[in-house]
Amino acid sequence: MIIICPSCKRQHKIDETRLSDKVKAAKCIYCGHKFPIPRQQDGPAQVQDLEAKTDRKTRRIAVSLSKGGVGKTTTAVNLAAGLALAGYKVLLVDTDTQGQAAYMLGVKPKAGLTELMTGEVIPQDCMVEARERLSLLAGGKSLAGVKRLIARKDFRSEMMLTEALSPFDSHFDFVILDTSPGWDVLTINVLFYVKEVLTPVSLEVMAIQGLLEFCRSLASVQTYHKDLSLRYVVPTFMDKRVKQSEEILSQLESHFNSRLCPPVRYNVRLSEAPGHGQTIYEYAPGSPGAKDYRELVRKVCGNDKLWR
Ligand SMILES: Nc1ncnc2c1ncn2[C@@H]1O[C@H](COP(=O)(O)OP(=O)(O)OP(=O)(O)O)[C@@H](O)[C@H]1O
Ligand SMILES: [Mg+2]
Repeated sequence: MIIICPSCKRQHKIDETRLSDKVKAAKCIYCGHKFPIPRQQDGPAQVQDLEAKTDRKTRRIAVSLSKGGVGKTTTAVNLAAGLALAGYKVLLVDTDTQGQAAYMLGVKPKAGLTELMTGEVIPQDCMVEARERLSLLAGGKSLAGVKRLIARKDFRSEMMLTEALSPFDSHFDFVILDTSPGWDVLTINVLFYVKEVLTPVSLEVMAIQGLLEFCRSLASVQTYHKDLSLRYVVPTFMDKRVKQSEEILSQLESHFNSRLCPPVRYNVRLSEAPGHGQTIYEYAPGSPGAKDYRELVRKVCGNDKLWR
């Protein structure tokens, strides 16, 4: 019997004679999705149902700021992992040549975003299931070639990522994209793909200047992509002992109002966790870093009661 995973559409050959009646569900070895096994007596309707496209309303969020080292990757990974822990199905896309998301999650994918965009590998094989409900499309050095590919395209080059992700993004509740520092063709592709931008900004004067610069660049994309909005500003590296932190925070508050998220404090556990290939919830669940990222997850999914 051939059964098709309703999430990633991969086919699985199953020997029915070796399948006990007690086994009612299967777990897809490619994407980790759990689904009921259709039995002969269930008839074609059930099989058809399994093949039906999941009709999810996917939220696409870019974690982005041109300035480097403000906590983009830390935020993208821990936000994605937190949403998965909250029960959402999440795809984390690393669009950075540094490829740190895989390292932070302790996985070594054989393929990733490059292979998806070049079409070398079928979409389902580009993803790796990093955690339960959390799939990863890894970044890395090879994305430099993808940037050249985008730059060479003369027509609708800004839509290449959107086209590449379209086969499966609707199977997720959230697609979270980590972006590289700077501003390049891949960043522009990310901004044309998403509707929401989440910007981590470290509480220092230079980062605020970077944020203003980034808002201007964002406005230039919004001219062509009206649905794009800066939804969340996340203050990072908050240190109450530094007077400047508080001052900058109140400036951000008056400017961004409800779009300003609760700050993520400076917490050494956040910088140690990647070395162990763990998220902050796994490495130090009781740490201030874990508490702050749980707060961010609540804000993004709009559920204030989550984990309380
Ligand atoms: N709240 C925090 N407290 C302490 N260390 C942190 C915190 N957030 C991030 N870090 C550490 O700061 C460094 C930079 O963080 P991160 O890599 O997430 O930034 P980034 O914006 O993605 O950088 P880049 O622009 O180079 O991609 C990392 O070593 C990370 O572990
Ligand atoms: Mg990064």
